[in-house]
Amino acid sequence: MATDPLANKSKAWSALFSEPVSELVQRYTASIGFDKRLWKADIDGSLAHAAMLAAQGVISTQDLAQIRDGLAQIQAEIEAGTFTWKLELEDVHLNVEARLTELVGDAGKRLHTGRSRNDQVATDVRLWLRGEIDEIVARLEGLQRALLGTAEANVDVVMPGFTHLQVAQPVSFAHHLLAYVEMFARDAERMGEVRRRVNRLPLGAAALAGTSYPLDRAAVARALGMVDDDGAPCLCENSLDAVSDRDFAIEFAAAATLVMVHISRLSEELILWMSQNFGFVDLPDRFCTGSSIMPQKKNPDVPELARGKTGRVVGHLMALVTLMKGQPLAYNKDNQEDKEPLFDSVDTLKDTLRIFAELTAGIVVRRDAMERAARSGHATATDLADYLVKKGVPFRDAHEAVARAVKAAIADGKDLAELPLATLKGFHAAIGDDVHEVLTLHGALHARRVAGGTAPEQVRAQIARHRARLG
Ligand code: ARG
Repeated sequence: MATDPLANKSKAWSALFSEPVSELVQRYTASIGFDKRLWKADIDGSLAHAAMLAAQGVISTQDLAQIRDGLAQIQAEIEAGTFTWKLELEDVHLNVEARLTELVGDAGKRLHTGRSRNDQVATDVRLWLRGEIDEIVARLEGLQRALLGTAEANVDVVMPGFTHLQVAQPVSFAHHLLAYVEMFARDAERMGEVRRRVNRLPLGAAALAGTSYPLDRAAVARALGMVDDDGAPCLCENSLDAVSDRDFAIEFAAAATLVMVHISRLSEELILWMSQNFGFVDLPDRFCTGSSIMPQKKNPDVPELARGKTGRVVGHLMALVTLMKGQPLAYNKDNQEDKEPLFDSVDTLKDTLRIFAELTAGIVVRRDAMERAARSGHATATDLADYLVKKGVPFRDAHEAVARAVKAAIADGKDLAELPLATLKGFHAAIGDDVHEVLTLHGALHARRVAGGTAPEQVRAQIARHRARLG
């Protein structure tokens, strides 16, 4: 039954009130427009609460049966899209409860015994966020797998590694991608740590002080899966903190921010690499758009947008921190403002992670351009210095000799590795006939065999380690 959401606005809040809120106040204070997405968590929380109330003898088993039937019907209505959300009922909690009472009468009115919307909403947000974190972790793993696939195919592709965005030393393209795998692995780990503090039960705190009913909070926690690794129930241990704490939301927003910062850095690189001046990679057309005026353009819109959307997620973190900083204990309506930043962070993250898994699997590698760039920035200068050190020259002297060689190469319009043997020998007596070996990209790459280095054997070891970890 589709009704005007404002149809019942004339009703006062309770018998205490002599007039209803104005239409503007109703709109201003309502959260139903966005918090209805918590409906499943709200129903799950109510089912666990009701079952516990019955087990404790606070409500009858008959009431429990009716509450279960009513909530099942509400769930079916919401899933079918026939549930009527009413603005005048303010939020998801009151909408579900009102419909329950409409359906099953007094049993519905007993559901809220020993409970407040304050502990209810905190529980709902935690339950909902827990599920989203699990999905985000799965998507972070999907992205890591995609990066691993592209890395595996490019272990022997050499690109210039940069510091200060100046050509520094040759690295394997796979090694470069694996740096991002490390970041996303940490992100998944961090999300798991945040999840532990999300997964604690506020219910039982009631409005702020606890309740006089003999509630079994541990049973509710177990029913909702709010348990630790040993299966012990996880409760918010202080009722004032239980209803007012949003640290878990801030922690999530911080972890989400880091994910987006990593995505943004990768985006920046993809955008640079795809520019004509680099030409290191191409992205499949399905991730790009053209220009309405310049026919030659193919723009990396997806990474650009991801870089842009990072700003939103960073902003949501700031919004949540600022939301909390001035609040006295315990619950304040301010907390209703926790939802939109959380929802948008989750949505942005989930979409971005999915699209980046597809995008990174589709990176087209321009091997020649990468290797040309690696060969033209004197990227093996450190290798020449190391060569001299291995011949007994003190490192600082070697550094100086190579700097002179690079200067000469620049004057000659050549790469260091292209200088003739005779010329090279002029820069230091220790330079011998075997020098060109170390000046090749291949030589430079293979030399860095230290654990975590860019030598192909180490890169393959990294890939194997990640594959074993991801299962
Ligand atoms: N919609 C509210 C929120 O999101 C639910 C809690 C309302 N509690 C209250 N005492 N008004 O925080």
